[in-house]
Amino acid sequence: MDRSMLTYYKTIGEIQSCIAASQTLDEALHASLKIIVENSQAANAVIWYLDKKGDKKLHPYYWISPIDLTSKKYSPGVGVVGTTFANEQSTRLLDFKATPAEDVIHTFEGIDIDSVICVPLTNAHETLGCIEFVNRADGNLFTDEDADVCEIMAMMAAMAIDENEQIQDPWEAGNVLMTIRGITREFQNASGVVKVLKGVNLDVYDGEFLVLLGESGCGKSTLLNIIGGMDQPTSGTFTFLNKDYSTANQNELTEFRRKNIGFIFQSYNLMPNLNALQNLRLIAELVETPLDPDLALEIVGLSERKTSYPSQLSGGQQQRVSIARALVKNPKIILADEPTAALDYATSIEVLQVLEKVVSEGATMVMVTHNEEITRMANRVVRMRNGKVYEITVNRHPAHATDLVW
Ligand SMILES: Nc1ncnc2c1ncn2[C@@H]1O[C@H](COP(=O)(O)OP(=O)(O)OP(=O)(O)O)[C@@H](O)[C@H]1O
Ligand SMILES: [Mg+2]
Repeated sequence: MDRSMLTYYKTIGEIQSCIAASQTLDEALHASLKIIVENSQAANAVIWYLDKKGDKKLHPYYWISPIDLTSKKYSPGVGVVGTTFANEQSTRLLDFKATPAEDVIHTFEGIDIDSVICVPLTNAHETLGCIEFVNRADGNLFTDEDADVCEIMAMMAAMAIDENEQIQDPWEAGNVLMTIRGITREFQNASGVVKVLKGVNLDVYDGEFLVLLGESGCGKSTLLNIIGGMDQPTSGTFTFLNKDYSTANQNELTEFRRKNIGFIFQSYNLMPNLNALQNLRLIAELVETPLDPDLALEIVGLSERKTSYPSQLSGGQQQRVSIARALVKNPKIILADEPTAALDYATSIEVLQVLEKVVSEGATMVMVTHNEEITRMANRVVRMRNGKVYEITVNRHPAHATDLVW
């Protein structure tokens, strides 16, 4: 047996056991897609499913890709995905450039397409959606064996759906507040130029709780600083409410930050010689339409402590003051960089409860964390790896802060 056949059987075996070990359909689909991606070295992989109750279009259910597909939808019959779905047959455009493809609308606008495999997700009764793979990470083309493995995986996934639960309703994304396209950031240090961000694409939706994860040094804080107007990208575009800030000058950035962004850091950065209320009033004086500082303290549950100085407050209380300080700005987006990293479990949950409440009242939150459990609270989880977005997951049913355990 040649190597590729061995890989083929190994992959199928892995998928089989991971579907068997999964507790939920979500887990089964995520885990099996990951296995396929690792074995076929796909650069992009997406599970699409048909929303039968809603708009009758194919929605992205789960994807591993540096492209944010959240709002992409395809009608049956349209594009590679829609055609695969409608025909209930695989599409193998293994050498995409050599295929006459005038009528092919593909999902990955912005990417140079080399190779595509799209297979229907069909159970005993119906076609539920399809699974799409675009480009290999090593630059080679997909092979027929890759396509065979994908077909078997799709069959297994469809069977898992049949036996367990139905795929859930799509998440209703709000309007796009921010678009980030092809953002790179280089730093000059003693040994030369370091490329930290290598082409980040992401949309931020109005009212969402977005959690950003990734190993230390992958560029999370760098990205947060750019979208918060504290730093500027080396290349790429960053727009907020359709205004381009990629090349804004310092005054425009300061104005942008003041009007739109609330920051919460791991360290609370409160003024030590001002009490809680005075810390908030200081900010209220700087902005045009502040939230009443007393109300902000009430929201974070610290009305009783308004005259306390930072040194008289616990870590969790200080972090709640710093959340209140972000709220006083009445910002469009709150950016939080590991807000609970310095806190113990119980205090972290208290702080997360406050953040949950703030989002439920309409705020948009982008939060960086190292804590996998916190991802359960998010509407979307964005994973970064080596300066790029690697994977985005949508939580159809986010957990409450009080449900989290670690
Ligand atoms: N101003 C700078 N000058 C030079 N290098 C920088 C600068 N800022 C960040 N870096 C480098 O960029 C890389 C990414 O840093 P960043 O702080 O964005 O990582 P991170 O994902 O937030 O990590 P952590 O989880 O540890 O906070 C690091 O290697 C860091 O040393
Ligand atoms: Mg960081």
